Amino acid sequence: MGLFTKDIKTMDDLFLHTLQDVYYAENKIVKSLPEMIETATDAQLKQGLQTHLVETKGHVKRLEEVFRMVGAKPAAVDCPAIDGIIDEAEDVTGEVDDKDVLDAAIIAAAQAVEHYEITRYGTLIAWAKRLARNDVARVLEQTLVEEKAADKKLTAVAESKVNLRAATS
Ligand SMILES: [Fe+2]
Ligand SMILES: [Fe+2]
Repeated sequence: MGLFTKDIKTMDDLFLHTLQDVYYAENKIVKSLPEMIETATDAQLKQGLQTHLVETKGHVKRLEEVFRMVGAKPAAVDCPAIDGIIDEAEDVTGEVDDKDVLDAAIIAAAQAVEHYEITRYGTLIAWAKRLARNDVARVLEQTLVEEKAADKKLTAVAESKVNLRAATS
């Protein structure tokens, strides 16, 4: 689906395209989280990312349910935005030597991912409602709640200890 082929004609097309975009993103996150978990050193951070990996696998399943609900096959379109966020995360964490600073970098990267997801799900939910698909909106809302909770947990870990340790190491 290229920029100049004008395959997106209706709001339904746009919804489906964005669904495919976030499907790509969620699958990419499932692939990249294990390395972040491996690299993190704070036990609470590791555990939080591990829990979110399990949730993220659920997000993929939930998106597949939404594809079924709208009568489409689960498919992904490239999402350069999430690729960029994750590439940058890998670059930065690869450059950090001190383990406390590394945890701070991992949290920052993970929060960029969560915020990307939050914006996508927020949009999809608003569009689903506008398209009179409250049933679809409700399924997507379950994921959005988990994304926001994951983001909050990361903030808590950062502010309660990781940033302090990173700033004093
Ligand atoms: Fe997700
Ligand atoms: Fe997430």
